[in-house]
Amino acid sequence: MKKWDDQQALQIIRNSADSGQVLTHGIRQLVDCFGYVDEIAIDPLAKHFLRSKAEVYGVIQYYSDFRTCAPGRHVLRICQAESCQATGARKLTEYICDKTGITLGQTSKNQRLSLEPVYCLGLCANGPAAELDGQPMAGLNKTKINTLLDRLQS
Ligand code: FES
Repeated sequence: MKKWDDQQALQIIRNSADSGQVLTHGIRQLVDCFGYVDEIAIDPLAKHFLRSKAEVYGVIQYYSDFRTCAPGRHVLRICQAESCQATGARKLTEYICDKTGITLGQTSKNQRLSLEPVYCLGLCANGPAAELDGQPMAGLNKTKINTLLDRLQS
């Protein structure tokens, strides 16, 4: 991911809006480039896509892929939907939060890891499931999480 750049972000917004794309496309382009949508982009997004700032915030908050803060180097998204809950996702999430010292929606102080909730990754038959930097993982347990977190710290 690139470091946020106001001029590049504005160009992305303009290009997306001028090519007739919808607001979610413009936001997606920013997230793909920078990993998030900086607060400074809310006004230009609203202006170029002819929406209110509240609507822009609403779209960002609705989709779990969108965020307004820079993510950590790694993003671990843990499924919180029903099937994964039935296979222990809540307890595993608590375990991960205890191990990392951060809660869902937070990024570690060293900017190494962000924990985020996600609601179904299509791996329901083999939960608990998660996604690390876009790579799906299923059948998680404490042992697998320990291995994963050790790898992320090295
Ligand atoms: S409920 Fe977790 S992957 Fe579907």
